[in-house]
Amino acid sequence: MSGDVSAVLAKHQHDPTRLVQILRDLMAAQRHLTPQDLTAIAKGLALPRGRVEGVAGFYSFFATEPRGAYRVLFSDSITDRMAGSVELRQRLLDAFHLRLGEVSRDGLLSVDVTSCTGLCDQGPAMLVNGVAIPRLTHARIGAISALIRASSPMEWWPENLFSIHSHIERRDQVLSTPFERGEAVRAAIRRGPDGTLEELQRSGLRGRGGAGFSTATKWTACRGAEGRARFLVCNADEGEPGTFKDRVLLADHLELVLDGMTVAGHTVGAKKGFLYLRGEYPFLVQPILAALEERRHERWLGSEIAGVPGFDFDIELHVGAGAYVCGEESALIESLEGKRGIPRNRPPYPVTHGYLGQPTVVNNVETLAKCALIASHGAEFFKLRGTAKSTGTKLLSVSGDVARPGIYEYGFGVPVSQVLADAGAERTQAVQVGGPSGTLLSRSELGRRIAFEDVPSAGALIVFDESRSILDVVESFAAFFAHESCGFCTPCRVGTTLAAQMMGRLCHGRGTRRDVKDLARVARQMRATSHCGLGSSAGNPVLHALEKFRPSFDKALASHEVVPSFDLDEALAPAREVTGREDEGAHLTEEAT
Ligand SMILES: Cc1cc2nc3c(=O)[nH]c(=O)nc-3n(C[C@H](O)[C@H](O)[C@H](O)COP(=O)(O)O)c2cc1C
Ligand code: SF4
Repeated sequence: MSGDVSAVLAKHQHDPTRLVQILRDLMAAQRHLTPQDLTAIAKGLALPRGRVEGVAGFYSFFATEPRGAYRVLFSDSITDRMAGSVELRQRLLDAFHLRLGEVSRDGLLSVDVTSCTGLCDQGPAMLVNGVAIPRLTHARIGAISALIRASSPMEWWPENLFSIHSHIERRDQVLSTPFERGEAVRAAIRRGPDGTLEELQRSGLRGRGGAGFSTATKWTACRGAEGRARFLVCNADEGEPGTFKDRVLLADHLELVLDGMTVAGHTVGAKKGFLYLRGEYPFLVQPILAALEERRHERWLGSEIAGVPGFDFDIELHVGAGAYVCGEESALIESLEGKRGIPRNRPPYPVTHGYLGQPTVVNNVETLAKCALIASHGAEFFKLRGTAKSTGTKLLSVSGDVARPGIYEYGFGVPVSQVLADAGAERTQAVQVGGPSGTLLSRSELGRRIAFEDVPSAGALIVFDESRSILDVVESFAAFFAHESCGFCTPCRVGTTLAAQMMGRLCHGRGTRRDVKDLARVARQMRATSHCGLGSSAGNPVLHALEKFRPSFDKALASHEVVPSFDLDEALAPAREVTGREDEGAHLTEEAT
């Protein structure tokens, strides 16, 4: 067993549920996982080797083939492409005479793509050995090429290359109310679990991760479920392209989120919480670990929190490894257990059978921040914003063709047109609300409102002005789903690949009418028969674009229609003469040609 493997296994106490973290640590030490490493890990964790190999192959941050000493993953979301990422990537490749996916001959550099790095407000972005670099320009790529060529250790690279900005452009209730560590926990202790649940029920809070499920109902179900132990998970996987509000909450309002997690632990009776952070946010790891340590020190975490006997709760940070599907709550739990992120059959739901088969609440980062706010200031304060069916505020991540990309907080019910005006959008052609799995709005729909009863959204608005090709947008989304499908079920595995291929053909002028028809058919099939939310929403961009931007598809076909160089019907005249036929059926119709 190599020294790296035994040290990493010892650090994680040979715990098989830590497998994803073990592979992450090993990747950081050696850049790729060798067959010997996988065997040694399987032995050290007493797992079948196939299980370890399966996990190593599932997550895009893990490599089982040698990669460069500097492993670059270029972010390839639509906003990166709109900001020129493809040209910048080519420039880096050219500088090292490389092709995408190759390792340079000297072993220094490899360049691959990753779906999205959650830096859509400051793209184009990339990860170098897992460290994020935003706001790429030709000058930055030139400087980075020189640093790599000089084999400069990344700790010596200029700090400003790595600085991530929060870009909070509009604050409402959550982002402007002052908050002190422990404030919400103290209030929850005062009310007791039943009182907190009542307050939450009165607030009408619905989950901010996308589905909009009632938080009070979820917590009540978990609290009442039978089990050896209960668990709380904060879902900070945030993989939907265009979404970055959880990143900002964790960077600038971490105490609110951690208080919210502790309130949840107290209310549902969980002694352990996990914060599942997406692997693309390594810059948040140290601040989160430091805050957790301070909380333990001040007895806001650990045993007898705030001196209350029996109130024991701690939080463990778990970092993902580049798999969008792990945002789906049951896939996330699988990942937490050290497995591939394959969504489970539901029911049973995590509230009764979650982490290690025990009752588990999974909540989005923003939902938990709101729980803290409600615990501190009460349901009535929370309901001052929003609508009757969508209470409170929503954090929106705004990117694309706007003058001021960033985070905007509004009361639910805000018209999309107001968000666009505030963000400085001009000549808007379309807005993608809720990321690729959400809703594509055309210009005529910009008066619609962000609310569960109108346009629901986990919080992403990607704006496209008139200069953008809607087909390119849909192609990017189709490629995203094809890349991120976990492959477990056929409709999604095959459907996302077919849709990406057909969209690729259409964008490159080789699409046919048949492709357009098949696209719609495949999209509907995925929606109706996929195993999880990824597959059932993967057809949305195609279906919405076909419904609202049909001329874009027709134009792509019309300009590439095959024009025959001779008249086929005329050429068949001798054959008609020989057979003595001149009836209608003996002539080619326009349809047949
Ligand atoms: C493919 C897929 C990806 C998802 N990604 C996320 C995510 O990154 N963050 C999140 O909170 N919820 C995500 N969800 C929704 C979760 O499954 C779950 O509904 C949510 O975490 C519940 O939290 P909430 O009730 O606070 O909204 C995703 C769902 C699917 C189907
Ligand atoms: S729908 Fe897609 S992501 Fe979900 S289980 Fe099936 S293959 Fe995996």
